[in-house]
Amino acid sequence: MTDVGIDAIEFQSGKLRLDLANTFAPVKGEDPGKYTKGIGIAYSSLPDVYEDIVTMGANAAKRLMDRKDLTPDDIGRIDVATESAFDNSKPVSTYIAGCLEQVHDGDFHHANKGERKFACLSGTQVIDDAYNWIRAGRNRGRAALVIATDTALYERGDPGEATQGAGAVAMLIDEDPDIVALSTEQGYGSADETDFLKPNQQFPSVDGKRSIQVYLARMREALEDYESVAGDTHPDDFVYFPFHTPYPGMVRKAALLGYRHITRDTEIEDILADDIGMQPREADFEEREDFEEAIRAYMDELKETRLYREWYEAAIEPTIQIAGQVGNWYTGSVHVARLSALRAAAAADVDLAGEKLLVGSYGSGAQAEIHAETVRDGWREAVDAIDVEEQLEERYDLSFEEYELVHDVHNHEKETDVEEFTQPSAEFVFTGWGRMNERRYEYVE
Ligand code: HMG
Repeated sequence: MTDVGIDAIEFQSGKLRLDLANTFAPVKGEDPGKYTKGIGIAYSSLPDVYEDIVTMGANAAKRLMDRKDLTPDDIGRIDVATESAFDNSKPVSTYIAGCLEQVHDGDFHHANKGERKFACLSGTQVIDDAYNWIRAGRNRGRAALVIATDTALYERGDPGEATQGAGAVAMLIDEDPDIVALSTEQGYGSADETDFLKPNQQFPSVDGKRSIQVYLARMREALEDYESVAGDTHPDDFVYFPFHTPYPGMVRKAALLGYRHITRDTEIEDILADDIGMQPREADFEEREDFEEAIRAYMDELKETRLYREWYEAAIEPTIQIAGQVGNWYTGSVHVARLSALRAAAAADVDLAGEKLLVGSYGSGAQAEIHAETVRDGWREAVDAIDVEEQLEERYDLSFEEYELVHDVHNHEKETDVEEFTQPSAEFVFTGWGRMNERRYEYVE
């Protein structure tokens, strides 16, 4: 069977940034360390007034098509994952296709288009759909363009405000891919949860503390389910573990739990036992409370061990570097984590071909999904072509007053007229509303 996976990636950050330590923290009366160390985000990317989920997605998709020298005939499917949609009927993918048709010869009339919803998880589900479509042989030799795009804004004053972000990741899913091949094996952890939701409202209702517990519980379930089909996981099997990253502090918690799980009954547990004892087993405790207390004590010690720290620095830290510069991109977040790891490997000149990633996606509401990916020979060239650092460097630094205006501009309930902060160039921009309240876009040279 031919491998199917990610053949190309493009990244589009919102063109503004909010400095959490120096601009946000002083107004909130918080210690900057809460954001830079605790939450782990230095800057949030935010959209300029002419940017939205369509422009960011279309700009990423255009660059991807240009780089791969693709025409609309090469694409049989365009799926968008977003939880920031502004229409309950017309999918964002039709807007993006319309944008791309402004600049490409030909059209996407014979491409299947859709929009996927399951909080942040849908960014992985669109890849699944493309994978299944190709594997089923329904693609007629064509590739799928999948785009995860979000303006992850919270209500002003919500604790989630510190984790905001905006950006898009476009990916080409194809046979014999250049970057990673996807495993057939997958694990799911899914339950009806009320941790983060948007019941017909723009900004989420969030139970932040509970959402952390739900994330961990569903991830653990998904890992167990994955292992039931793929066999036990071991830290040495995977070079990186890109997880959904609502903020790097969340991944720190997940990584510690994950490490405890994947080292249980391995030689690593035995080596660690010299310093911190064996992992507590539930069967050895009469009361569940005592078991949980013992687990907490074990984890407190585990995170200080040399073995854990070395594993974390090598396998997790590279996955959260970009998230620390941009915040949560919801559906794009796990794809930012993968890209972050691949960029870090390229910067360190590590040859990843043939190595494996264990990818953990998550969406509130709630569901986690875990699968493996095998890095392909073409990864380095494909990843080097993405201008991540340039985009992040060029962002306009907002003052707090400017941030307040930008938040209002993107608030669907408000009408706020603000001049753009950056000058658009060679990109799609939002130009206003049409007669049926549709949004309109133009490509500016
Ligand atoms: P909070 O309550 O304001 O923050 O909001 P906190 O007081 O818990 O502090 C955060 C961390 O910073 C803590 O670390 C503090 O100790 C530490 P922890 O104890 O958790 O390890 N801290 C400091 N560290 C160093 N120096 C200091 C300092 N001060 C404090 N001076 C919360 C945090 C996450 C609740 C909030 O940001 C929130 O509600 N975020 C939105 C929800 C969210 O991101 N949940 C994550 C899981 S759900 C998910 O991932 C799905 C999602 O992406 C949506 C989707 O699927 O669509 C959100």
